[in-house]
Amino acid sequence: MGNVGLVLGLVVAGSVLFAADKIILKKPPESLKKYYPPQSQKFEFLSNMYSMSTSFYAVNLNINEGNWDKALEWAKKLKETYLKTSKMVPEWKDYFKPKLAEDFVKAVQSKNVDRVIEASKKLGQTCSRCHQDNQIAVKLVFHFPSFDEIKLEDPIEFMEVKTGDYMKKLSNSMKALRIYLEQGNTEMAQEAGTNFVERARGLRAMCSKCHTQKISEEAILGKAFEDALAKIEDLITAEKPNKDEIFKNLALIGNTCTKCHNVHLIPEMVQEAFAK
Ligand code: HEC
Ligand code: HEC
Ligand code: HEC
Repeated sequence: MGNVGLVLGLVVAGSVLFAADKIILKKPPESLKKYYPPQSQKFEFLSNMYSMSTSFYAVNLNINEGNWDKALEWAKKLKETYLKTSKMVPEWKDYFKPKLAEDFVKAVQSKNVDRVIEASKKLGQTCSRCHQDNQIAVKLVFHFPSFDEIKLEDPIEFMEVKTGDYMKKLSNSMKALRIYLEQGNTEMAQEAGTNFVERARGLRAMCSKCHTQKISEEAILGKAFEDALAKIEDLITAEKPNKDEIFKNLALIGNTCTKCHNVHLIPEMVQEAFAK
């Protein structure tokens, strides 16, 4: 009896990790949208997931304590949520095997530990199969608001552009600064450098469109970022700009870009791929 918990515990799905040689991201079905922002703030689908996972564990916990009556209540609740969830996303209907949820209830009713283990394994596999196919993509698509709708004022051309276009302008002025410095074209380097610094400062306006706490903004666009921009501004106006110093500060800023991309770019790439 002592290791029932261990066995059931391992089977309970919802475990985020799985082994695979290949991960495929499938576009989440259209009808899932109604359970996520902006259509709903309630995360109804995810909330059923937590409920099923809790029920699963409650069965395990109660059987370990010899409380079969409570275990049965939770098993029934699990079945109920499982059936309800199976109707939420028609495109995913086939992942659900209602008979296995019923078998699970019967197994708990029989108070036969081996039967419970067997039934929970089979039911748990239906959870895992869907998770392997869909969980990562759903998280990347529905847990991050889209950058596609965010517009930024370009401080050089005085027009509103989408995030992607702003990034292109920003990175082109950064590249132009490098190129003109390499070529020894001081005047052009100055212009490109000023444009780059202005655009980099303009990034800040974007953060508060999603973040309500200043600390998120500061974690990436903090003092080191501001200082590096101020230094570049200084350095490019010198009669003979110190190339090495400018490149050193550009590298610091490059780290900032990478940090933000590490957090935000991957979900955005997946969303954009699916948007087409
Ligand atoms: C919010 C944090 C954030 C910061 C800070 C940031 N980026 Fe980005 N960047 C993004 C996102 C999000 C995208 C994807 C935008 C899209 O395609 O809609 C992106 C895309 C890009 C792209 C690809 C553009 C394209 O569509 O081809 C480049 C190049 C780029 N960023 C350069 C930079 C540079 C250079 C910096 C720093 C000076 C920087 N970014 C700072 C978030 C950020
Ligand atoms: C038809 C597909 C499907 C089935 C079947 C399914 N799930 Fe899920 N589950 C998902 C998706 C998609 C997510 C990610 C949802 C999100 O993050 O918003 C998820 C997330 C979860 C999570 C949350 C993990 C986390 O921290 O983000 C738990 C726990 C979970 N499922 C448990 C279960 C259990 C237990 C079962 C079976 C009894 C089950 N699921 C069956 C699709 C499914
Ligand atoms: C389109 C919406 C959006 C924009 C714009 C955006 N973020 Fe985020 N950011 C998120 C989401 C979503 C997360 C994941 C954490 C969460 O769910 O709250 C996140 C996470 C972060 C985190 C780590 C967790 C935290 O909340 O501190 C940092 C740091 C961060 N963003 C910085 C920035 C900075 C800096 C900018 C502006 C340059 C920015 N973000 C712009 C949506 C956005």
